Amino acid sequence: MTEKKKLYIKTYGCQMNVYDSERMAEVLGGADGYDQVDSPEAADMILLNTCHIREKAAEKIYSELGRYKPFKTANPDLKIGVAGCVAQAEGAEIMRRQPMVDLVVGPQTYHRLPEMMKQVDAGQKALDTDFPEEDKFDHLPDRPKPKRAPSAFLTVQEGCDKFCAFCVVPYTRGAEVSRAPDRIIREAQELVERGVREINLLGQNVNAYASDDWGLTRLIWALNDIDGLERIRFTTSHPNDMSDDLIAAHGECEKLMPYLHLPVQSGSDKVLKGMNRQHTAEQYIRTIERFRAARPDILISGDFIVGFPGEEDADFAATMDLIREVNYGQAYSFKYSARPGTPAAERAFVAADVANARLQELQALLTTQQRALQESMVGQEVQVLFEKAGRLEGQMIGKSQHLHAVHVLAPNQKIGDICRVGITNSETNSLGGELAIR
Ligand code: 5AD
Ligand code: SF4
Repeated sequence: MTEKKKLYIKTYGCQMNVYDSERMAEVLGGADGYDQVDSPEAADMILLNTCHIREKAAEKIYSELGRYKPFKTANPDLKIGVAGCVAQAEGAEIMRRQPMVDLVVGPQTYHRLPEMMKQVDAGQKALDTDFPEEDKFDHLPDRPKPKRAPSAFLTVQEGCDKFCAFCVVPYTRGAEVSRAPDRIIREAQELVERGVREINLLGQNVNAYASDDWGLTRLIWALNDIDGLERIRFTTSHPNDMSDDLIAAHGECEKLMPYLHLPVQSGSDKVLKGMNRQHTAEQYIRTIERFRAARPDILISGDFIVGFPGEEDADFAATMDLIREVNYGQAYSFKYSARPGTPAAERAFVAADVANARLQELQALLTTQQRALQESMVGQEVQVLFEKAGRLEGQMIGKSQHLHAVHVLAPNQKIGDICRVGITNSETNSLGGELAIR
């Protein structure tokens, strides 16, 4: 029997890319396909699943490709592919800049990878960045059966129609499209049969999910009925697609976790307008209040951009005020990065040193809030879903309902167990705890 060829996938960017990488590994797997490996050194194929959201993310791809040159020299049969949003945005330009790239595939066409690989194996280049008529999910192989990690991503919606002035997603991922609910429910059932206990529903605008008369809330309630599935999460939401029933579900649906990632980007109405966010800071804050009324312990997470064109000191101060008012348990913050082809890229930039100083100040405040929330968990009991063994003998690491990483000495527990844990201490990025006595 000949040995199977080896595939190394490196994933950049968001959780949807993590999901897509899994599916690409499945498409390229199979009987005479590739086995996935953890390092590029011995691989027969290297695939970079890329992110285009900020300039740094895109530039990283070219430097990473540069690193692979010696591998290609040592093994001329090595195939190199670029997938994801940089592939979608740059297309053939990637092969011009880096001729050793054999294959470029966008996020909507990776179900065509087997055909593309035939071309590549025949010594040709393969490029496909269509937005095809057919749905890739109809053409992907059924998900394989081996046991898997207890927490899984499941893409339910892709693309974005919002056109925030800074963002490439509407161009790289295309228009908002939702998958049919029966397919999603079947995929969820199969994941549960393979040991999954927590599903994180993914979408660029996941709360815009709409298929026939199904919305995200109905989907969550349908998943709630799956025996063995214990936790449901969803991300990322947009403030303008929030519905009353989704808010209410946070108080009613036990499997729905008390965590909401709701990006606002800025606390200044002037900047929000310039960003084409189509909502005010006040509207955002009211939405958060409604979530807290439905589920008082909900952890709020957000995204922020500082140094957006036109942001003045008073606008930044408004963002800091909004952060103080909301009190975030988790947040992601970025310096504005001009993306070619987006409306904001044409506008005058904020000076880099000003933007850097604002980012530091904003991150310091967010860190203080995150730490304070973590500290407040000490003495409380949480439920932890164990995901992996820790470094210490008998230690397990898992996630609480609020997505805090929790380290526990639990030598008799298995990965996939959900246990009650008393929180004893708060570290930089995690909590420590002890199993609660039953
Ligand atoms: N510059 C900086 N941050 C950006 N984001 C999206 N586009 C840009 C950009 N051009 C951030 C937003 C978004 C998150 C996924 O990435 O905060 O919510
Ligand atoms: Fe980008 Fe705005 Fe769409 Fe989010 S809502 S993906 S930030 S355009």
